[in-house]
Amino acid sequence: MPTFAEALVVLEAHAATLKQVRVRNLFAQDAERFQKFSIEHDGLLFDYSKHKVTAETMRLLADLARARDFDGRRAALFAGETVNTTEGRAAMHMALRDLSGAPILVQGADVRPEVEREREKVFAFAEALRSGASRGATGEKISDIVNIGIGGSDLGPAMAARALSPFASEGPRTHFVANVDGADLADTLLPLDLARTLFIVSSKTFTTQETLANARSARARVVAALGEAAVAKHFAAVSTRLDKVAEFGIAPDRVFGFWDWVGGRYSIWSSIGLALAIAIGPKHFTEFLHGGYDVDTHFKTAPIETNIPALMGLLGVFQRNVLGRGAHAVIPYDQRLARFPAYLQQLEMESNGKSVTREGRPAPLHTCPIVFGEPGTNGQHAFFQLLHQGTDVTPIDFLIGAQAIASDPKQHELLFANCLAQGEAFMKGRTLDEAKAKLAEEGRDAAEIERLAAHKVFSGDRPTSTLLYRRLDPRTLGRLIALYEHKVFTQSVIWDINAFDQWGVELGKELANRLAPIVADAAASTAALDASTGGLIAWRRRADCD
Ligand code: F6P
Repeated sequence: MPTFAEALVVLEAHAATLKQVRVRNLFAQDAERFQKFSIEHDGLLFDYSKHKVTAETMRLLADLARARDFDGRRAALFAGETVNTTEGRAAMHMALRDLSGAPILVQGADVRPEVEREREKVFAFAEALRSGASRGATGEKISDIVNIGIGGSDLGPAMAARALSPFASEGPRTHFVANVDGADLADTLLPLDLARTLFIVSSKTFTTQETLANARSARARVVAALGEAAVAKHFAAVSTRLDKVAEFGIAPDRVFGFWDWVGGRYSIWSSIGLALAIAIGPKHFTEFLHGGYDVDTHFKTAPIETNIPALMGLLGVFQRNVLGRGAHAVIPYDQRLARFPAYLQQLEMESNGKSVTREGRPAPLHTCPIVFGEPGTNGQHAFFQLLHQGTDVTPIDFLIGAQAIASDPKQHELLFANCLAQGEAFMKGRTLDEAKAKLAEEGRDAAEIERLAAHKVFSGDRPTSTLLYRRLDPRTLGRLIALYEHKVFTQSVIWDINAFDQWGVELGKELANRLAPIVADAAASTAALDASTGGLIAWRRRADCD
C-alpha cells in the first residue's frame, strides 16, 4: 500500500495527463459515462459525471483515502471514540438519529437511554404547544416561537424550518434571532404578540454573548408586557449547561439538554431542533432523523467507490489539492433550501478551516475551500457570470428535487430545466469556432464576429455535481445534511485535521469582551489599543456626540 505522499504524487501525475482532455469528449467517447459516474441510493441520485475524472482518477482517490486509514478513522468515529482530541470528546451526533434500538457507545458508555429520554421530553413539549395544552401566561395559545441562538444553535433549525415549511401547516410559526445587533430581535418581535410568543434560548455553552444579550432583552420585554411571573410560561431553553440555565431563571421542566459529544454545528438532531420539532411535529421530526440514519448506515458500510459522502469529499480534495480550486459553490435549485449554503458554511468552514494537523503540526495541504451559495435561479442573475467566464474555476454542487411540493408544477419544470442547463453549460462550454458560428447564424457581419467572438467563449470543463432527490421532505433533508456532515469528515481524514474543534473563533470573542467596556465608556482610555482600533473608537465617540 502506498504512503499518503506517494499516493498524492501518483494522483498529481495522473491529473497532468488529463490536462488536454475535454469532458464533453469523455461523454462522446463513452455512452455509459453517466451510469459509471453516478450513484443512486435510497431516493437520491449523485451525479459526478461532469467532473473531469476517469475510472483511474477515482481509483487513485480511493487509494489516497486508504493511505490515510479512512476505514479505521470512520470506524473510530462511529465507535464513539475520542476523535475530537483537543477537547477530549467524541463526535457522536449520529447517536441522536440512530433508530436501531441497539446500544450506542460514546467513550465506552451506552447513551441510548438518555438520548431517547431527552427526545421524548422534546416531543411531549412540542405536542403540548401544538395542541394548545401548554399556553401563555394569559391563557392564549402560543402562535409564534422565537429561537434565540447563534451559529449551530441557529443555522440548523432556521435552515430546516424554512426547508420543511410545507410540513409545518398546523404548528406555530417559527422565527430565529441570532445577531447581537438589537435590530434582529426588535424587527422580529415587531409583528408578534408577546402573549402568544414562546422564546427558546438555545446555547450549547450558555455563555455566548450574543445569545445571552438577546435573551436578557427578550426577558425584559416579556416582564414589561406581561409581568415577572409570565417568564415561566414564555421561555424554554436548550443547553448542555443546565447549571447556567438555572441561573437565568428558566423553569426546569422547560429545559432540554444535550451532551458535549454533540458539536454545535452538528446539533440540529438534538434538543437544538426543538423549534423545528414544534413547527413540524414529532412525526415529521422522526422522519428527519430517519433520513440522517439512512445516510449513516450507507456511509458506515459502503465501500469508498460507491460511498456518496466519501466521494463528495474526495472529489472536493481533488479540486482543492490537485487542481488548486480555492472555493466551492453550493446552489440549491430549491427556494426552501435558501439557508442551506449558510448552514454548510458553518459545517464545512468551522469544521475544516484549520492550518494544523491533529498533532498540531503545520498542515502540509490546503484545507477547506471557501464555501458559498445562493438558490438557483437567483444566483444565475448575480455571480454566475464569474462562474462561467471568470479566471477562477469554482466547483459547484447543484441540489434539486424531481418533484415540487406545494408550488406550481409548471414552474418546477422551468426550475429543473435551468438547473440542468447550467450543468450542461459549465461542462460543455462554447469554443471560439462555435461562438463565431453562432454569431454568423444570428446574421452578424465578419467584423462584428471578430470583435465579439472572444467575449462569447466559455471554457467548459467547469466541474459540477448534481444531487437529485425525489422531493424536499423531512427524510430527504435529513439525508442531505448527513451527506455533507460525512463529506466534511472524509475531507478531515485526508487533511489529517480535527473537524470537531473550533479554536479559531476564540480570539475574536476574547477581544470583543475586552473592547466592550471601552466602547461603552466614552471616558475609557484607548491608549493600550493599536492605532487603528483606537482611531475607530475615537471616531465613533465623536460621531456619537454630534
Ligand atoms: O462561535 C462559534 C460557536 O462556538 C459555534 O461553534 C457554535 O455553534 C456557536 O458559537 C454557538 O455556541 P453556543 O451554542 O454555545 O451558544
